[in-house]
Amino acid sequence: MFSLLTLALASTASAACTRSFLQDIAATYIKAQTAGTPSLLPLNTPLTYVENDLHPALNASVLTTPLSIDFHRSVYDTTTCSTYTELNANSSSHPYVIVTLIRVDAATSKITTIDSVVSDDGDWIFDAKAHLSYALTEKWDPIPAEKRDTREVLLAAANAYLNQWGNVSLPVPLGTPCARLEGGLYTGSRNASSNSCFMPAFPMPLTVGNRRWVIDEEMGTVGMLNDFPFLEASKPNGTTPSSNMFYIVGGLIRYIHENTVCATRMCGR
Ligand SMILES: *[C@@H]1O[C@H](CO)[C@@H](O)[C@H](O)[C@H]1NC(C)=O
Ligand SMILES: *[C@@H]1O[C@H](CO)[C@@H](O)[C@H](O)[C@H]1NC(C)=O
Ligand SMILES: *[C@@H]1O[C@H](CO)[C@@H](O)[C@H](O)[C@H]1NC(C)=O
Ligand SMILES: *[C@@H]1O[C@H](CO)[C@@H](O)[C@H](O)[C@H]1NC(C)=O
Ligand SMILES: *[C@@H]1O[C@H](CO)[C@@H](O)[C@H](O)[C@H]1NC(C)=O
Repeated sequence: MFSLLTLALASTASAACTRSFLQDIAATYIKAQTAGTPSLLPLNTPLTYVENDLHPALNASVLTTPLSIDFHRSVYDTTTCSTYTELNANSSSHPYVIVTLIRVDAATSKITTIDSVVSDDGDWIFDAKAHLSYALTEKWDPIPAEKRDTREVLLAAANAYLNQWGNVSLPVPLGTPCARLEGGLYTGSRNASSNSCFMPAFPMPLTVGNRRWVIDEEMGTVGMLNDFPFLEASKPNGTTPSSNMFYIVGGLIRYIHENTVCATRMCGR
């Protein structure tokens, strides 16, 4: 009797992946990156640590570099017990824009995966200062409960955008306004009320692969990590680490933040 009750309580507590729990995880991630101390995080053993599609040791990762973080935005996926954070370290002596997907084992509350796209000087249109100033002009307000899109609608919109890179004729649900922050370049800088998110055709056929995502219905956001073939001129058929974070309202894309890591300066373009 006692043991069954204990078991029931324990499993209820451990299986819960609440929004506030994920908010704590993301806040701890920001603290750990600010301090340059990954051990502040509740890490599982083993841990999958990915940085720009490579697997450095944690003690050789960007998490060991203390950063002065000017701006960060996190979204939370209670269904998959995951977080996705965009952070801008414009004020650091070495400026970075970092996007990190964290997966947590709901049963143990330990982090099993940290997967980051770490961009800095020389990466695609990288400009931390411009990224910060444009990011601060945007409003990613929570979506009122009665207006929220389903996970399926949100993911379909994000996938449609990435699918269209491979076939310019495919439809994409872009809203008006829609603006893309691509590194430090802002498509909405001329007219923030217009839809400037359309991506023209690439000069070669491509498939955006290796998609990993987090969906937050409350924030109307899909946080995506993906390959960006073609862009790196030195290996057009390579993968190239990239992130795309989508704010979606009523099924239509409003904002896209893209960060892409080049193997050669400005991807050789
Ligand atoms: C990093 O960790 C590995 C494995 O624990 C260890 O062998 C290595 O010496 C460490 N490197 C540094 C720079 O601390
Ligand atoms: C970004 O950092 C630069 C260099 O430290 C500083 O001049 C600038 O004011 C910062 N931008 C913002 C928006 O804080
Ligand atoms: C591109 O998409 C259009 C519209 O769905 C389709 O008709 C066409 O066959 C596609 N092209 C390729 C090469 O897949
Ligand atoms: C900006 O875009 C909006 C929406 O497309 C349009 O109504 C408006 O006329 C544009 N403003 C300018 C100055 O072009
Ligand atoms: C890259 O892929 C394109 C399209 O699939 C192909 O035509 C081309 O030969 C490939 N180039 C190299 C260097 O492999």
